[in-house]
Amino acid sequence: MDITDRGFAGFCLDENVEKLFGDISGTSWQSRKKKAIQYDLDHRPDDTLIAEVDGEVAAYACTRLYQGRSVGHVANMAVAPEYQGEGVGKALLNAALKHFKQNGMDYARIETLEQNYKAKKFYPKAGFKEVGKRIYYFREL
Ligand SMILES: CC(C)(COP(=O)(O)OP(=O)(O)OC[C@H]1O[C@@H](n2cnc3c(N)ncnc32)[C@H](O)[C@@H]1OP(=O)(O)O)[C@@H](O)C(=O)NCCC(=O)NCCS
Repeated sequence: MDITDRGFAGFCLDENVEKLFGDISGTSWQSRKKKAIQYDLDHRPDDTLIAEVDGEVAAYACTRLYQGRSVGHVANMAVAPEYQGEGVGKALLNAALKHFKQNGMDYARIETLEQNYKAKKFYPKAGFKEVGKRIYYFREL
């Protein structure tokens, strides 16, 4: 949860919304993001991977297996800022891809925001091909 708080700052859609519209639901983007991570931990513990460095949790990846389509989805992944740029993310993503293969998946899917300059370099280097861009809109009612 600490990694979520610190790791996603600057790279979260809900944070973008908060910057433009303020506090929209009485909760911060961090608490909503952590709720989503907690949901995956509670419902898909076997599909949640962590990376440890010297016994410390340095990163996590929450994944989903879409059995019918043979697609593994990395729903959320983050490396603690102090461990970024040291190959932890690469090792964790490789572990996630291995987890997909071991569970019968043939493809892997992941999304990122246009503003996420780190992820935009990271995923293509890991063999992912860009297949589309989505624009998120938001307005007050
Ligand atoms: C994106 C993220 C998961 C990458 O993990 P990492 O441990 O920092 O990355 P690695 O050290 O394993 O680097 C892997 C590749 O990513 C790229 N990369 C990593 N940090 C980068 C940066 N600051 N700028 C540009 N490219 C970067 C490099 O191309 C690197 O390839 P190389 O080893 O051939 O140089 C991590 O930075 C992170 O958690 N970011 C914040 C949360 C986030 O954006 N999550 C993903 C949401 S989609």
